[in-house]
Amino acid sequence: MSKEKILLTGANGQIGTVLSAELRKVYGTENVITSDITKPKSNLGPFCFIDILNKQRLIEQVKELEITQVYHLAAILSASGEWNPLKTWDVNFNGLLTVLNLGKEGIIDKIFFPSTIAVFGKTTPRVNTNQDVPLLPTTVYGMSKATGENWCNYYHKRYGVDVRSVRYPGIIGHQSIPSGGTTDYAVEIYHSAIAGKEYTCFLDKDTRLPMMYMPDAVRATIELMESPKEKINIRYGYNLAAMSFTPAEIYSEIVKYYPDFKIVYKPDFRQEIAESWSESIDDSEARADWNWQHAYDLEKMTKDMIENLTKKS
Ligand code: NAD
Ligand code: SER
Repeated sequence: MSKEKILLTGANGQIGTVLSAELRKVYGTENVITSDITKPKSNLGPFCFIDILNKQRLIEQVKELEITQVYHLAAILSASGEWNPLKTWDVNFNGLLTVLNLGKEGIIDKIFFPSTIAVFGKTTPRVNTNQDVPLLPTTVYGMSKATGENWCNYYHKRYGVDVRSVRYPGIIGHQSIPSGGTTDYAVEIYHSAIAGKEYTCFLDKDTRLPMMYMPDAVRATIELMESPKEKINIRYGYNLAAMSFTPAEIYSEIVKYYPDFKIVYKPDFRQEIAESWSESIDDSEARADWNWQHAYDLEKMTKDMIENLTKKS
């Protein structure tokens, strides 16, 4: 039986929905507790309400449930964050500090902190972006994650906290719907194609961004968390990559399955955010340190997305 008891914060979101199901396969349903500020859509295992800003409640639940690891997913994403910058900072940054302090006080053993390509900015080289590059993010979301990365690094070096992190690219999956992000178009477009509707894309056709299929993202997360401590040389967010594409390129793949599918481009405020991020990522440290390897490219992902979404429709 697993001796680990895992808590996921922000677990009802796009990634948490899928990650919690995979973690339950590994550690057992009762050993993986999901939490969020909203009710889960389905009852697949233990759940509790935790607002990450309610420090006392989080600490009490972690102690009461004898949690050993926290996957801290709760956050407000890049596009939504721009509507309420101070709230976004509070949730994204102060929420993380509470979790890091649980590690510092020895109450939990391990923490996962998802960082993002939104930490990059105008001063970052955009093509094949290296691990250690200048970071000057343009969104409050990116600022909170870049600062969060530094605090993860500091808590590890100063207090020995076992915190692990990746800079996820835009994540695409058929199981859950994203919201509030700049990369959401790459999921929405499949739903429109399958529903037989024209898709209005909020990014311009040639905007290239790094992306990853959900099974790769979930596997990377669990592999990183299960790697021996001595293999983890970076505590502030490993670069992580699988593929990069533009709206025009994903459209070209989907149209092979739906020849009548139409797209129009109406860039909005998210265009400027996307242009401040990298186009492609060099993730050689993750590949060398804990043997990261992606499995899905655009073609393989499109086939799988369409197969799975058509089963549901
Ligand atoms: P999401 O927006 O789908 O889910 C975030 C969840 O956090 C939501 O269910 C929301 O209810 C919850 N939340 C918001 N405020 C909260 C609060 N005060 N207390 C507790 N929960 C709260 O996001 P996601 O796509 O599932 O992302 C999960 C994590 O991965 C986030 O930290 C995000 O920054 C990171 N990430 C995601 C992507 C992506 O493409 N999805 C890319 C890079 C990084
Ligand atoms: N997919 C996320 C967003 O667009 C990147 O962190 O906000």
